[in-house]
Amino acid sequence: MTEHTFEAHSNSNIPANQSNKTSISDKPAVRNSSKKSIFVKFGELQKEIIDDSYYNFNNFEFTNDRKKSLGSGAFGDVYLAKNKIDNKYFAIKIMEKEKIIESGASLDVIYREISIHRRINHENIVKLYSHHEEEKFFYLVMEYVNGGSLFSYIKRNKGVDEKKAFKFFIQACSAVNFLHENNLVHRDLKPENLLIDDKENLKLCDFGWCVDITSGNRVTFCGTYEYMAPEIVKEVPYDLGIDVWSLGILLYELTHGYSPFRAQNDNFDDYNEIFKNIIKYKFKIEKELSKGCIDIISSN
Ligand SMILES: Nc1ncnc2c1ncn2[C@@H]1O[C@H](COP(=O)(O)OP(=O)(O)O)[C@@H](O)[C@H]1O
Ligand SMILES: [Mg+2]
Repeated sequence: MTEHTFEAHSNSNIPANQSNKTSISDKPAVRNSSKKSIFVKFGELQKEIIDDSYYNFNNFEFTNDRKKSLGSGAFGDVYLAKNKIDNKYFAIKIMEKEKIIESGASLDVIYREISIHRRINHENIVKLYSHHEEEKFFYLVMEYVNGGSLFSYIKRNKGVDEKKAFKFFIQACSAVNFLHENNLVHRDLKPENLLIDDKENLKLCDFGWCVDITSGNRVTFCGTYEYMAPEIVKEVPYDLGIDVWSLGILLYELTHGYSPFRAQNDNFDDYNEIFKNIIKYKFKIEKELSKGCIDIISSN
């Protein structure tokens, strides 16, 4: 069985290169393998040193002219790159600091994303191996997932049959359950943030909104309109339950090909109509589905 781990945020468990880090808003330390090699003996630490030099940012080269990205994000795009040591492919998310600041966000949001994502190890979650920071950019070096997003898959197939929908749904639940067991709420679950690998397994990505909820419920208005839970729409404090709500939306979209509370005429900007539908819990099951499937969708 695959081992799932989340590195606890105590100094004894976090990698030596990050050992001064005590909270998620702190800036993660830049890797420094030369300094650490002084203390290297054998075993585990040695492995980490090898990894350190492997993930040195100079080892990576982008495989195209950066015009063709794997996907677009809020603060930049994700590109295919390869490690020159063994020609292995990686996905590198590049985020522009200026764009982040222009949006009104703080760079701490990115430090939080890196800090949380780096510690997660689960088969249905994209692995973040390393990061690199420059004056103008952040680079997040991730496992490359080569089958595109679940969003494109659903649109291409106009929804999937119930059997396949459940396979994807269960894998998404497994990823979310793992986050929740570690007191993390993702806050932006949607098909665009679920990627498909070469064996048609799902991997959750995008930890931009993910936070630790140990210290109490959250109030930040965030996520994506059609996937927002009523608590967020009503701007009242919320907990891990908002992700569970989004999973219900996901099962609906998987089986229908579109989401339940969408605005008419696909007017994506009409969030007023979407919010009204969410609060009134106004949606219709429009496909032939089993009672079990309908019960799960409707059990929010
Ligand atoms: N590891 C990856 N492998 C392949 N494609 C990826 C990977 N990570 C992200 N992408 C693509 O890039 C898009 C944007 O990345 P994401 O992390 O969601 O950025 P943002 O936080 O700005 O939404 C995703 O929707 C997906 O299509
Ligand atoms: Mg995203």
